[in-house]
Amino acid sequence: MNFSHLKISNNGSVSTVTINRPDKLNALNMEVIDQLSQCMTQLDKDPSVRCIILTGEGQKAFVAGADISEFANFSVPEGTKLSAEGHEKLFNLVSKLNTPVIAAVNGFALGGGLELAMSCHMRVASDNARMGLPEVSLGVIPGYGGTQRLPELIGKGRAMEMIASAQMIDAATALQYGLVNHVVSQEQLIEKCEEIASKIVRNSPKAIGFAIQAVNASSDSSVDGFAEEVRLFGEAFGTGDFKEGTTAFLEKRKPNFKGE
Ligand code: COA
Repeated sequence: MNFSHLKISNNGSVSTVTINRPDKLNALNMEVIDQLSQCMTQLDKDPSVRCIILTGEGQKAFVAGADISEFANFSVPEGTKLSAEGHEKLFNLVSKLNTPVIAAVNGFALGGGLELAMSCHMRVASDNARMGLPEVSLGVIPGYGGTQRLPELIGKGRAMEMIASAQMIDAATALQYGLVNHVVSQEQLIEKCEEIASKIVRNSPKAIGFAIQAVNASSDSSVDGFAEEVRLFGEAFGTGDFKEGTTAFLEKRKPNFKGE
């Protein structure tokens, strides 16, 4: 895989994707969004990849937002299309991947940057990270899922304050709010994400994919989450991973999951 704005490295079954546009604080232009969409889709299809870490190049930013220079002159239909296509191509796509994605938030995560981190399945921040949805300061609203995912993660009152004030919060506040799971030093950030990933990759990839779908159903008003859990729980019994996991337990050995 070769993408001009992404760096991809592999460590065993964990792939790290680094958004590489540091001169613009890794702002998401159309090209970056397209490349991330393709890269994430390909990694998700690769059975040798069992966890993905997503981060930003440099010491300053994860992603400082959607690229403001690209949409400053947009009309109403163009703005609508920008948001709808972004949801489909990247933000909803990432949240629905079967492979768990950990956002390593290594600095500013603003606007589309925080929305991207919130589309990931979990977030770890460095202690210099600052997060916010400053869109109303530009005369627009969060359009890549921020109005939905932020209240889901931190509660409606706190989300309203962050969105309406357009202010950033620091890493300690993000931890207190539950927006990130852990805060560590910048030097330890990828190490901490790899430590979490190392625990994830021991488990059944098939079951993890089902679990992601079931957990996502909890915030999807178009589906009955409990019914979805029943369906996916049942489906797990038909997988090779289930056979392997239960057999390995009974044989007192470590399972060798194939993700089938
Ligand atoms: N879109 C386009 N370019 C961006 C950007 C964005 N969202 N965020 C940063 N950049 C660019 C800057 O224009 C600048 O480019 P230049 O060197 O060619 O002028 C470069 O990245 C460095 O940013 P700069 O503003 O000089 O860094 P700073 O340390 O002074 O400030 C921020 C950092 C994050 C506070 C500031 O860049 C910022 O407010 N960015 C916009 C955040 C935002 O509103 N995001 C939501 C978009 S919907």
